[in-house]
Amino acid sequence: MSKKRLAIFASGNGGNLQAILEAIQRNEIEAEVKIVVCDHPGAYCIKRAEQFHIPTLVFSSKDFASKRDEEDWIIKHLLPLQLDYLCLAGYMRILSKKFVHTFPNQIINIHPALLPAFKGAHGILDAFQYGVKVMGVTIHYVDEEVDHGKIIAQDCFHVEENDTLETVEEKIHAIEHPLYVQVLKKLCHDESC
Ligand code: GRF
Repeated sequence: MSKKRLAIFASGNGGNLQAILEAIQRNEIEAEVKIVVCDHPGAYCIKRAEQFHIPTLVFSSKDFASKRDEEDWIIKHLLPLQLDYLCLAGYMRILSKKFVHTFPNQIINIHPALLPAFKGAHGILDAFQYGVKVMGVTIHYVDEEVDHGKIIAQDCFHVEENDTLETVEEKIHAIEHPLYVQVLKKLCHDESC
């Protein structure tokens, strides 16, 4: 079976990116990351990609006249790579309908809350402030709506009395990295998720 060809999209730290790259290095995921796409020049995820000798596609939205131009430019770079999956891992730009339709059933996202609850950019904060007793993460296929689409996997933990925003953030990151690896391992083995 040939290795699956992945693109990873990230905007900041790149903790999920790192977990995926390490799992590929351990031969746990039968895949190769063909490119890391990042919309924040200087973000730490770019350094992580470079440490693994992965090509990067870095841009700033202000370099484009419109979101359409920006996405057309990204698509132009991605199509020749013949990707199997586009993995959003902390990518903070919302993808247009056109972009999503260009890669049907190929885009997956990780969201740091138990969807359909707490969509949006502040899932951890919103869930914590709401006072939920169970928090978690969701990996899902991306459709035209934000933080929406068929759920692939979720994991969760109980919030303890002494938890703070910082400790639940740590707990979210601790469960999302292995979950993303587990999902990609299955998808890249052609197992249905
Ligand atoms: C993660 O919590 C992810 O679930 C969310 O953004 C964060 C990105 O973290 N979408 P990192 O850049 O992977 O460290």
